[in-house]
Amino acid sequence: MGAAEHSNRQTRNCAATPENIAAAATALRAGQLVAFPTETVYGLGADATNGAAVAGIYQAKGRPSFNPLIAHVADAEAAFQEGVFSDAAKRLANTFWPGPLTLVVPLNPHSKISDLARAGLDSIGLRVPSHPVAHALLKAVARPIAAPSANRSGHVSPTTASHVAEDLATRIDMILDGGACDVGVESTILSCLDDTPRILRPGGISRAQIEAVLGHALPEEDGQTPGEAIVAPGMLASHYAPKAKLRLNARDLRPRETGLDFGMSFGGMAARDLSPTGDLAEAAANLFTFLRAMDSEGHATIAIAPIPQDGLGEAINDRLSRAAAPR
Ligand code: TXA
Ligand code: MG
Repeated sequence: MGAAEHSNRQTRNCAATPENIAAAATALRAGQLVAFPTETVYGLGADATNGAAVAGIYQAKGRPSFNPLIAHVADAEAAFQEGVFSDAAKRLANTFWPGPLTLVVPLNPHSKISDLARAGLDSIGLRVPSHPVAHALLKAVARPIAAPSANRSGHVSPTTASHVAEDLATRIDMILDGGACDVGVESTILSCLDDTPRILRPGGISRAQIEAVLGHALPEEDGQTPGEAIVAPGMLASHYAPKAKLRLNARDLRPRETGLDFGMSFGGMAARDLSPTGDLAEAAANLFTFLRAMDSEGHATIAIAPIPQDGLGEAINDRLSRAAAPR
């Protein structure tokens, strides 16, 4: 899959009228990619329950690694369907939503959010944006929408529709133009995975505002191990780690190994194939789901066929080598 394949979409630039918001909702439900304004920055949205659609986000951004994505929903009730909220998390949600706060909470077992949108984690980042266009869109879609900032990987986050077009024209299906974003910096990301909430990324809601609601101070460190370079916010906290040993770039299957194939290179001997036809987007959509399923079957070693290092292959290989790293 070459670079050209990521830039063959016809990008419709649309004013955020009620008709176009309805069309954007239909497009999202059909698995298309739609950029939309939030109060912080423009997001690049895809149906979070559709792994193939989410793979398209990574292709469009040219992101060389999978990060867990924030799932955007219309209201707190919808968020409570996707995550498990402690009393403190509920208090924060009820105070700051809609608004620029993302809460990372344990995944609700009933959630239908794809493994790829969560980068294989058991947690989920949820946010209810306050921008009226985002709200109307999410209400109409009635599904969680995974949306990173709508920029090419390594570029700054876009705060106008024309920033989005500069980065993503021909790579996504639609841009909803709702004018300039008010806040201009991303949402604050707060982990509520254990008893002490922690800021993973500072943003639109301040530490002091959060502490006032919690009634106590937040820990100083921002979710990073001291002294370790920040690769990307949330990355270190969010490393997917299977119990099984992974043997990467396996050309064959050894005794007692179970195989995770790509493009049928193990000649039909593997337990699963990420994409029998060698489609990297399909492989990305299956990656965490298959690893998780094979891990739960209790295999000691999973042999993984070579994945080409182009397009989404780079992100797949990045995640595989992290998952294979000795612990
Ligand atoms: O304001 C915003 O938050 C914007 C708008 C579009 O909503 N979105 C945004 O998304 O900035 P993005 O993908 O550029 O940054 C999301 C960050 C990532 O660094 C990711 O690591 C972290 O959120 N994140 C998401 N889910 C997480 C999880 N379950 N655990 C840890 N970190 C998580
Ligand atoms: Mg970003």
